[in-house]
Amino acid sequence: MSSAFDDFELKGHKFDNRFVVAPMTRTSADRKGKPTELMGDYYERFARGGWSMIISEGVYTDRQASQGYINQPGITDAPQTDAWKEIVERVHRHDCAFILQLMHAGAQFQHNEYTDTPIAPSAVKPKGEPLDLYGETDGWTDVKAMDESDFDAVMQGFVGAVNRAEEAGFDGVELHAANGYLLNEFLSDYFNQRNDQWGGDIGHRLKFVAMVAKACKDAAKSENFIVGIRLSQITVTDADYQWPEGEDAMIKIVKALKEAGIDYIHTTDTEVGRKPFKGGSNKTLAEIVQDFSDIPLIVNGGIDQRNYEHVAAHYPNAMLAIGKAALANPDFPQRLKAGDEIEQLEFAMLQPTATLENEWRWRKQHDKHIEVE
Ligand SMILES: Cc1cc2nc3c(=O)[nH]c(=O)nc-3n(C[C@H](O)[C@H](O)[C@H](O)COP(=O)(O)O)c2cc1C
Repeated sequence: MSSAFDDFELKGHKFDNRFVVAPMTRTSADRKGKPTELMGDYYERFARGGWSMIISEGVYTDRQASQGYINQPGITDAPQTDAWKEIVERVHRHDCAFILQLMHAGAQFQHNEYTDTPIAPSAVKPKGEPLDLYGETDGWTDVKAMDESDFDAVMQGFVGAVNRAEEAGFDGVELHAANGYLLNEFLSDYFNQRNDQWGGDIGHRLKFVAMVAKACKDAAKSENFIVGIRLSQITVTDADYQWPEGEDAMIKIVKALKEAGIDYIHTTDTEVGRKPFKGGSNKTLAEIVQDFSDIPLIVNGGIDQRNYEHVAAHYPNAMLAIGKAALANPDFPQRLKAGDEIEQLEFAMLQPTATLENEWRWRKQHDKHIEVE
């Protein structure tokens, strides 16, 4: 039976366990989107803690409308790229792979240094309220439906970001097509109400996502540079959203991504075992990938010390991405191996906002400070 501590190989990268830090926004860059030294401390802490791979927080891709949060890091210019380079070097010192998550905020737009107008497939605001975890919130901003020049700008943003990520030394990128951000919005019949070639049934709604995936694959220069994608039905403000086509939507998305040459699919849900499809399907998102393709998986959603071996056995071709348990235990894989105590995440650590300064302050107050040499 496969175990989370088995070796794993992804595009020529060899790992001695299957643990991955899930992408987590920490809004701790400077106002110009440049990563800081504290962010280096944060990522290096995981690298020292026995993880095989880290996926970064969502990073914005262009200087038009892609930024979604105040103090979100970007990968749009030389100063941002050079600052990432230093962090990549720190992570690589510990034999840990580092993937940059490329995120266009779309309609989930709370702060942007370059424009006041969000763009999305259609002029549709997200449900619910903005996230106070990521800074000030004052309702959602009116959204502009993307026109042809926006499509070009978004595409150029993603391709340019791939080039800069490779220049910074990352092992790969992850296209963020989950949780209600721009690429995810294309897949959704709530956000995407277009009646041109980019909207309509799932075959049309997935087209732009597949095109971006293919363009990013083509942009990668090195043989073993990884281009993966993260998918979900749920969004950060709508945990009930379902594609109208049920599991057939996921099957079509997986097949299109296979054709685009994607290197992995990262599925995320409220719980890794949830069967989320409309129409009574008894499959998880990840089971569709496993059953209909040979694309390597990363699975995510509520994985912790109680269920990780069960998940590892169920998905032999998957790495396991872990969010909250990683925040509480930056050395989670090492603790598991040594049989040490696993801590529960205390959300006070991320209050009033999810910045690293707040986490560091909380750790000092609670005598849980973690030194990075
Ligand atoms: C503070 C915080 C920030 C997050 N930011 C991102 C993000 O930038 N990109 C993303 O894809 N998911 C993000 N997520 C979602 C996590 O990657 C993960 O899917 C979620 O926490 C569920 O996994 P878990 O049960 O292992 O925590 C974030 C989660 C948390 C707690």
